[in-house]
Amino acid sequence: MCGIIGYIGHQEAFPIIIKGLKRLEYRGYDSAGVSIGRHDELNIIKTKGKVDNLEDISNKKNTSGKIGIGHTRWATHGEPNKKNAHPHCSGNGEFAIIHNGIIENYDSIKKALTIKGHEFKSETDTEVLIHLIEEIKTQENVTLFESVRLALNEIVGAYAIIVMQKGSNEEFIAAKNGSPLVIGIGNGEYFIASDATPIVEYTRNVVYLEDGEIAKVNKSLELEIKTITNVSKTPYIHELELSLDAIEKGGYPHFMLKEINEQPKSVLNTLRGRIDPETKEIKLGGIFDYEQKIINASRIIIIACGTSWHAGLIGEYLFEDLTRIPVEVEYASEFRYRNPILRESDIVLAISQSGETADTLAALKLAKSKGVTVLGICNVVGSSIPRLTDAGIYTHAGPEIGVASTKAFTTQVSVLALISLLIAYKKGEINQITYRELIREIELIPEKISKVLKSSSKIAKIAKRFSSSSNFLYLGRSYNFPVALEGALKLKEISYIHAEGYPAAEMKHGPIALIDENMPIVVIATQRTNYEKIISNIQEVKSRGGKIIAIVTMGDTSVKEIADYCIEIPDSAEQFSPILANIPLQLLSYQIAVLRGCNVDQPRNLAKSVTVE
Ligand code: G6P
Repeated sequence: MCGIIGYIGHQEAFPIIIKGLKRLEYRGYDSAGVSIGRHDELNIIKTKGKVDNLEDISNKKNTSGKIGIGHTRWATHGEPNKKNAHPHCSGNGEFAIIHNGIIENYDSIKKALTIKGHEFKSETDTEVLIHLIEEIKTQENVTLFESVRLALNEIVGAYAIIVMQKGSNEEFIAAKNGSPLVIGIGNGEYFIASDATPIVEYTRNVVYLEDGEIAKVNKSLELEIKTITNVSKTPYIHELELSLDAIEKGGYPHFMLKEINEQPKSVLNTLRGRIDPETKEIKLGGIFDYEQKIINASRIIIIACGTSWHAGLIGEYLFEDLTRIPVEVEYASEFRYRNPILRESDIVLAISQSGETADTLAALKLAKSKGVTVLGICNVVGSSIPRLTDAGIYTHAGPEIGVASTKAFTTQVSVLALISLLIAYKKGEINQITYRELIREIELIPEKISKVLKSSSKIAKIAKRFSSSSNFLYLGRSYNFPVALEGALKLKEISYIHAEGYPAAEMKHGPIALIDENMPIVVIATQRTNYEKIISNIQEVKSRGGKIIAIVTMGDTSVKEIADYCIEIPDSAEQFSPILANIPLQLLSYQIAVLRGCNVDQPRNLAKSVTVE
């Protein structure tokens, strides 16, 4: 993972880099470092821990300079400590590099370089790359640009890199393959970063580097881009739509809480322009040309990771229930390595908040290489996944910065609901009355989310009661089973409490053995169908002493009689109730994590955008 940033221009580089690193910290936060160019020196400062630590230790140092690079790390090779923090330097101290990704063949290169006399100070793959660049530069006597280009031809793996040279304070070199990199073009200045959030307050003009491209970024010259195979490319300048407000906390103590509370608006933004206000028809411009292909698909294969995979599971229920098209939901990491059977009549649908998850991206590439139509549901505009897919739909949730995904999930499910409704109707699987009725229901979801958010203080009391529990079980049936999985994931991610999500009826085949009077069990009991069956499951838990926290529909009486605690959500069509039912679970995890003193926005060992496999 890791976040990288570079600045070159007429302003002081250090403050821009530190501010940018703080915005990129969701990508990793176990160590951080900068290299600032000044006169004929590279001033390198690095430390274990967060960007705040880096800022603190830098206070006592001279950080002036108009060119610099910075890095916030999520360790892959080598433990998180000062030695392994980036930037890394060449053996002669002439060059510094920051890197996001993994150099897979670093070991063989390291051995070859060691024979030639190179000595390494860290355990990282990145240091090997900068030594290789140095070696080529010395042997071939070529420019830095050419040395980096030649070195990258020897590399197997993923990278977004920026390389700077001592004394060369006008220029640095950037390149990308598999990890994201955006170049912001200002007035006599350039900003480079892993995403656009550090750039947006300075310029709206950006170039997204493509895989296998390398750029010469010289503050007095136009941007020069080539492929690493030495073919010149014309930079295509995009205009950023991101707003600065969207990437700040806006008075909330944590991004996660802000993002939970934003959901009425984010789901509204997802639906906006996609339901014709007059005809009440769904219009999905992003997949319009592929509608027939989806209708005729023999199978839809959803690929995703983490929370997006849970959204995919709800997609399976939605598609199969409404469109009658068979669906498989695959972990991208498994799919890509198991020689999957793909047919031309299949549709592969990738779901990803960031659009950069390495496994999802690789699975998508695999599907594409087999000639299958690939579609995407993504939040980050211009990210790698939407650029790779044949067509797709953006969720328009706005930037999600808290590492634990919240509004991305509810907006992904909203998009899945829109697609399945549209296809079901066009395929003739639901009639116009049902179609209209379900559209009316989905339009009410944002308002109903606002109502659910009002239970926050009630949830806070439940959180207080169970904040010191060491295990949680989450149960749900049908559409609510993925909600149980997502609820459990959210709790373990941010509070470090062990939690498992299970299909309610499956509980008796194992997890029931865990239940005693200390075990809180969250049951999502909102469905209209199989209501009695979930009540029986609750009884099974209750009779073993488990403490039941139930999510129920407003007006419910039967579950309320048995459960220890109930959180009510408004009634809605069963297909959309997972969106509502998920919200109290987000709040419960959040409140528990805060009570336990956890770092909610940056949980240990996690990162938001997982650009390594
Ligand atoms: C990481 C994040 C999760 C996210 C998953 C998939 O593990 O911490 O919150 O669900 O990656 O990310 P994506 O951007 O592809 O949805």
